[in-house]
Amino acid sequence: MEYLTGFGRPVGTCAPRAAFDTDAPRLSLNGTWRFRLAPSAAEAADGFWAPGFDDSGWSRLPVPSSWPMHGHGRPAYTNVVYPFPLDPPHVPTDNPTGDHRLVFEVPAAFAGLGARLRFDGVDSCGRVWLNGVELGVTQGSRLPAEFDVTAALRPGGSNVLAVRVHQWSAGSYLEDQDMWWLPGIFRDVTLLARPAGGVDDVFVHATFEPGGHGRLRVDGPPGATVSIPALGLTGLPAGVAHDAGPVEPWTAETPRLYELVVATATETATLRVGFRTVAIAGGILTVNGRRIVLRGVNRHEFHPDLGRVVPIEVVRAELELMKRHHVNAIRTSHYPPHPAVLDLCDELGFWVLDECDYETHGFETVGWRGNPSDDPRFAEACVDRMRRMVERDKNHPSVIMWSLGNEAGVGANLGLMADWARERDPDRPLHYEGDRGCAHVDVYSRMYATHAEVDAIGRGEDHVPHLPFILCEYAHAMGNGPGGLAEYDELFDRHPRCQGGFVWEWLDHGIRRPGGDFAYGGDFGEPLHDGNFVIDGLVLPDRTPSPGLVELGAVYAPVRLAVRPGEVTVRNRYAFRSLDGANLRWSVTVDGVPSAEGAVRLPAVAAGETEVVALPPAPVPPGTGEAWLTVHAVAADGLEIGSGQVQLRAGPAPVAVSGPAPRREGGAIRFGAAEFEPVHGRLTRLGDLALVHGPVLDVWRAPIDNDRLGPDPVADRWRAAGLHRMTHRLLGIDLAPDAVVVATRVAAASSDRALLTWYTWRPVDGGVELTVRVEPTGGWDVPLPRLGVRVELPPGLGDVSWFGAGPGEAYPDSRTAALIGRSRSTVDDLATPYVYPQENGNRADARWLTLTGPDGTGLRVEGVPRIDFTARRWSTGDLDAARHQADLAATDRIHLHLDHAHHGLGSAACGPGVLPPYVLRAEPATFSVVLRALPASRGRR
Ligand code: GAL
Repeated sequence: MEYLTGFGRPVGTCAPRAAFDTDAPRLSLNGTWRFRLAPSAAEAADGFWAPGFDDSGWSRLPVPSSWPMHGHGRPAYTNVVYPFPLDPPHVPTDNPTGDHRLVFEVPAAFAGLGARLRFDGVDSCGRVWLNGVELGVTQGSRLPAEFDVTAALRPGGSNVLAVRVHQWSAGSYLEDQDMWWLPGIFRDVTLLARPAGGVDDVFVHATFEPGGHGRLRVDGPPGATVSIPALGLTGLPAGVAHDAGPVEPWTAETPRLYELVVATATETATLRVGFRTVAIAGGILTVNGRRIVLRGVNRHEFHPDLGRVVPIEVVRAELELMKRHHVNAIRTSHYPPHPAVLDLCDELGFWVLDECDYETHGFETVGWRGNPSDDPRFAEACVDRMRRMVERDKNHPSVIMWSLGNEAGVGANLGLMADWARERDPDRPLHYEGDRGCAHVDVYSRMYATHAEVDAIGRGEDHVPHLPFILCEYAHAMGNGPGGLAEYDELFDRHPRCQGGFVWEWLDHGIRRPGGDFAYGGDFGEPLHDGNFVIDGLVLPDRTPSPGLVELGAVYAPVRLAVRPGEVTVRNRYAFRSLDGANLRWSVTVDGVPSAEGAVRLPAVAAGETEVVALPPAPVPPGTGEAWLTVHAVAADGLEIGSGQVQLRAGPAPVAVSGPAPRREGGAIRFGAAEFEPVHGRLTRLGDLALVHGPVLDVWRAPIDNDRLGPDPVADRWRAAGLHRMTHRLLGIDLAPDAVVVATRVAAASSDRALLTWYTWRPVDGGVELTVRVEPTGGWDVPLPRLGVRVELPPGLGDVSWFGAGPGEAYPDSRTAALIGRSRSTVDDLATPYVYPQENGNRADARWLTLTGPDGTGLRVEGVPRIDFTARRWSTGDLDAARHQADLAATDRIHLHLDHAHHGLGSAACGPGVLPPYVLRAEPATFSVVLRALPASRGRR
């Protein structure tokens, strides 16, 4: 089985070519195949490729598929490390081997024509027979392979295709991407008729020239003609440059495509092309002469039920979801996607960084000893991979840059890949993050550089100040986060050479489990795995947007609005589009209720320009309620493209009332509507509302991935400080004539640090005001996770309304998307079901909130002036202990956190931690809330 150890070279495949449609007959071989899995190559079925082999006892398997997703073998997840010994080109003897068979009829239309069999993706290696004739071997999982089957095919009759797929091959050493290991024929299999003298390959060079004309040269078969009917171009000779006349350019903002027809006497091919020119000019990456900013995401191909197979309607929906969140760029991390993905990118408009199927990261663990990138025996496979990507994808206007791969160290083979690509396609710049010296690439690329470093690079304080700078990965979106997106975006706005980047990453790669929650590394018994590091996306595995995506949408928004009473400064951050046809929708609200609203048409603010737009007068109605002017910019197609707001009037302060002094009565202390127990001094009752547990200081949060992971996890320091097991000692209860003051010392066992805490209770109209004063003692060198009080309420108060930031989750460094307004939800819906349970669900800056039952009874809390809150049916401890969503069960109460402050989210799971302004230092602090019981008569809020 030398082909398994053949240094990653395919055997018997045809020269690579572009993916496009023609009028020649084609037959999809996707469908239900016969399948049998053997634990090793040696134990696979002998002679199964013979047409007469009896496969009736075999399983049935859909093709395309990742076979572990269908009950054959198990998925396995590793990030950096290889799940087999570093012994290239050898592979384990225990090499799961899936034999696939398909019997199919070939239409007579194929008779007399040549034919090819095309595999769009086989992981990792497939040996192929047609009608018992061996065709060759595929390598390079995420790249196409074609075999000439003219001689073996039986048109008009029954044919037998047999494919033996091995999980491991020498090519696996080149495919150490951070993702599940999922073998299988996971992309389409197609039989293609190839007429003699047909259109085998096409290379479209369609540029947009400064005067507004297109320039077109189509390299194709000799004698072919080229037409673009929409431009009145017909029958142009291939291989010659033409002035295409005035054209509408293609950009990611204006994805204008033209249908191009290439014809020979025997075949007609149809492609969609776009005119655009990519260049680096004066150290800036430009398209059609303008600087672009990549507001991008890294996109893997993954589906929670199907593995590496992503149905095209799912892809379309996810790309549309990206567009709605103003993502304008995709890095195809870390391999070329299914070819149809790029068709959609052309159509919907994305700047694509197309990346080769190449990563050898696991060699870093041995100091890069033996890295294939520098091993001449792998040179051919490396160049072959680059060639197959460029040839397949070269006609896509969306592809503006090629990437050699990811995390493959340095070495001569990378230089060979770059040289080949530059020679073949001089019109696209090259990218490879591992080439820090920029010997082979045209852009300086980094991953997870801190804000400070990006700022320094923006000022040119690096070793390659003449090159554009991009972050091929930044803002690790693992779990709750990332924080600090707005601050990165501001740097891309400020420094011309900082041309944006790609958030890591789009999708959580969770695998759906029978109960409905999602598995991650280790859940399939893998001896070596990287846990939930594969769950690091902006959308959950089922592609539900996480709060991180909502935040990204607000940060990436193309229009910035600076709102002042009566006017808005509108800054158009598009590179190409004017704001023609867009509207400003404005509203004045009092206590979150609109008192006036309207819309004004925006002037056609040109790309990159700023204009001041007046709003009609809309006086704030008299009264005391907090008033806001909120403005949304809405594009002609209804998409919100920016928003902003300004406070017009502050809200009222609580009014203290005087009444009878607090008194001890029986075992309790009574004071107005409030009742306290004397042992801890806790509030037990407020009017008709019996609390399960009165407010106590709480500084713990269920560590988020960004707290738990990275080089110096803050969660380790929190646990060492005992912040998850603080105890409360009563120092005294003081009954003053106008207040109850409860003094406590909050501290962890075995620690001499403490938070001295005074709870001061005073009556206000209809309720009670609580002021909490906290004084840290004993030297605090760790930040606090949160600072607030925890209250436990009866479980029936599940309806939540509030006036504050919303409607979604927000934390101090992920706050752009939340606007001040009135929102409504339920305790159940406030929670974000992060695959790996962790702190979530905070709603920021509430002026007031209510938790009520069906009859309207419940609790109203007012911030003085504001308070953050989190409400859930389990405790922080339960959340901290859970490893999957299925571990979380509703308790008999609602756990309500009222927080004065939170530590930021940051991105420390992979990248910078919390920025200094968002670190919650243990310092003296005072905050207040008003609590009121809501009687049934007040109705629902
Ligand atoms: C990068 C890598 C990605 C992913 C990320 C962390 O180093 O390129 O593939 O592993 O870190 O999630």
